[in-house]
Amino acid sequence: MDLILIGFMGSGKSTVGKLLAKKLNLNFYDLDVEIGKACDAEIKTIFKKFGERYFRELESKVLRKLIREDGILSTGGGTVMFNEQYLKNSGAQIILLEADINSIDKRLNFDQERPLATNLNIKELYALKMQRQEQYLRCADKIFYTNTLTPEEIVNEIINNSAIYPK
Ligand code: S3P
Repeated sequence: MDLILIGFMGSGKSTVGKLLAKKLNLNFYDLDVEIGKACDAEIKTIFKKFGERYFRELESKVLRKLIREDGILSTGGGTVMFNEQYLKNSGAQIILLEADINSIDKRLNFDQERPLATNLNIKELYALKMQRQEQYLRCADKIFYTNTLTPEEIVNEIINNSAIYPK
């Protein structure tokens, strides 16, 4: 991969990744989508049927399959927790998308697709984010703040401030 987006749920990884790839004429991969394809099931169904541990094993496996492809990869919010060193050693630029907890909470509200967020109030979401924050920061080469920016603006920020070029 040329560039990998990491960050908490609702920080904009998938939207930004897709747009960034389109703008640069690069391939785009969304890890959750690829996991869904590998299992022929939705993420929430995998969690429900097989549990988080199974999901994490699959996530790591699919990540290892995809890593050699060229392009941009959006990870899931928990991918870094189990693959920090692997991501760091992958040679890809690792970009952290950071958003404040109020924006995240708004984006995740009523979202039934994210099994780990469905039953969490804002305080609990914040606690989970804080639990992960150190690893996000350790893994990232660069951080972009997304609160006040549109996806297009974030994409432009990334293009102007990191070593990623059109094909
Ligand atoms: C998860 C985030 C989700 C998805 C799964 C677990 C997490 O991805 O991988 O539900 O542990 O934070 P998004 O960050 O795209 O929501």
